[in-house]
Amino acid sequence: MTTAYLNGNFIPLEQAKVPVLDRGFIFADGVYEVIPVFSGKPFRLKEHFERLRNSLDGISLQLDYDREKWQSLTDQILALNRVTGDASIYVQVTRGVAERNHFYQSDFTPTVFIYCKPSREMDLSRGVGAVLHKDIRWDYCNIKAVALLPNVMLKQYAREKDDSIEAILYRDGYITEGAASNVFIVAGDIISTPPKSNRLLPGITRDLVVELISTSTYQCREVPVSKTELMQADEIWITSSSLGIAPVVRLDGRPVSGGKPGPAWRAIDTIYQAFRKSDW
Ligand code: PDD
Repeated sequence: MTTAYLNGNFIPLEQAKVPVLDRGFIFADGVYEVIPVFSGKPFRLKEHFERLRNSLDGISLQLDYDREKWQSLTDQILALNRVTGDASIYVQVTRGVAERNHFYQSDFTPTVFIYCKPSREMDLSRGVGAVLHKDIRWDYCNIKAVALLPNVMLKQYAREKDDSIEAILYRDGYITEGAASNVFIVAGDIISTPPKSNRLLPGITRDLVVELISTSTYQCREVPVSKTELMQADEIWITSSSLGIAPVVRLDGRPVSGGKPGPAWRAIDTIYQAFRKSDW
């Protein structure tokens, strides 16, 4: 039985219910966070809570939960669910229940929901497929908003078009990110990823990968990446808390890096796997 946290109480997941007038349901008026857990321990928790704070501030949702409170709630969720392996913690915060009205009241009671589920590690050793698609999302992609309909449509398009796992998005000829991941390209010994802006989510894995590349023989550049550069890249990777670093070996049905994971991915993923297993 999974135990979840809902508005102050730890309860069985099946009993966790949100009223239909919750603004998360009516307006997608909320933000969320996904925290990976490796061997029972939440990974980069401080960074995830910082991003959650930025997302909450980004939609002016006042919530009086401080870092200690979040830490204690996530610790309790892991303990109550006896998590000792790999998992993901999901935190959803909405502007709560109110009569349907676009305008929100200042005295609302937020809905706070936390749960965790075990994660299955994907076998990335043979790489994954991706497709290219125009970025059809709104303009504040740096906020981890629950308004995920475009992302859902884009991921489904990737699956249906080419049995791929991700859509790599572009605006005005430049890559932004994946529908649920960040993007890196490799050209020789230079690894590039688009710089942070309102057009992409500041991925916690992205930042870690940038950090880890600096300890390798490769150089990392946070620079705009054009569609042409992506299509001509030696390697393409997508990164996220759920995937880690995934090598894209097929883009729109055409092979990337000879249709198999490349040497830069092997080098950086080895460093990433060692970091994950180290005492961080
Ligand atoms: N998504 N960009 C988007 C649009 C994302 O949804 C995600 C993660 C990322 C990568 O961020 P991070 O490295 O912090 O996971 C980038 C999560 C995993 C999800 O919604 O399930």
